[in-house]
Amino acid sequence: MTPATPVPNATAIVFGASGGIGSALVAALSQDPRYAEVIAFSRSGPHPFDLTDESSIAAAAASVAQSAHPIRIIIDATGALADDGCIAEKSWRQLEPLNMARAFQINAIGPALLMKHFLPLLPREDKSVFATLSARVGSIADNQLGGWYSYRASKAALNQFVRTAAVELRRNNPAAICVALHPGTVDTSFTQRFAKTGLEVQTPEISAAKLLAVIDALDASRNGTFIDQHGYTIEW
Ligand SMILES: NC(=O)c1ccc[n+]([C@@H]2O[C@H](COP(=O)([O-])OP(=O)(O)OC[C@H]3O[C@@H](n4cnc5c(N)ncnc54)[C@H](OP(=O)(O)O)[C@@H]3O)[C@@H](O)[C@H]2O)c1
Repeated sequence: MTPATPVPNATAIVFGASGGIGSALVAALSQDPRYAEVIAFSRSGPHPFDLTDESSIAAAAASVAQSAHPIRIIIDATGALADDGCIAEKSWRQLEPLNMARAFQINAIGPALLMKHFLPLLPREDKSVFATLSARVGSIADNQLGGWYSYRASKAALNQFVRTAAVELRRNNPAAICVALHPGTVDTSFTQRFAKTGLEVQTPEISAAKLLAVIDALDASRNGTFIDQHGYTIEW
């Protein structure tokens, strides 16, 4: 017997829907019969928000709070490495306070504000997931190569925000899960300027499919962890 097609009864939300991975996530979720609604937030699209403007994040939360379906998945696919005021420093000689602050604003503070306004919207019954795209290079334990000071440090700060929010989430809403995900090396505008020699480079579509499979397989025991595109836990 063929399995019954699921009834679309959930809302999915993607932040950074204009990005390489974000747009592939929106496309994949839009094809998933479980989701009645996929809300794609980006700086330039019909559902606008800006990580550097908390009032825009609060307005985004207010706009989805009335959603007809429970929010089952929120993915933050925003981030910056070497644009928008961020630089990928190779040496401490390149460290500049304004560039460093910008990296923290986009890669850590903005996503933490998404947690502040969106974690309270997750339903208390049945599984729901808030996943933010971090990066393996944000792992302090894994740092053997150095470089990319502000990006690494801001993703490490993001990871700590995830872990801390996950502890609070477990107390308030044990059905919900908050994780940091590493998408693998993905061919997007983000990585275009950097040599990817020796790395396994994926298309955004493949990365999105892997990330969604990882999210589907999550259970409460993985709340507050850092996970790669294959589902393996990454050391902090
Ligand atoms: N690509 C990789 O190999 C790779 C590897 C490891 C981790 N990651 C992580 O995966 C995530 C997505 O990467 P990607 O390759 O898809 O990058 P991307 O194509 O450059 O997308 C970045 C997204 O972030 C959004 N964004 C940047 N600043 C913003 C702000 N102030 N307010 C709202 N949105 C903002 C961009 O919006 P605009 O279109 O408006 O600029 C865009 O939607 C990032 O967190 C990155 O660190 C990527």
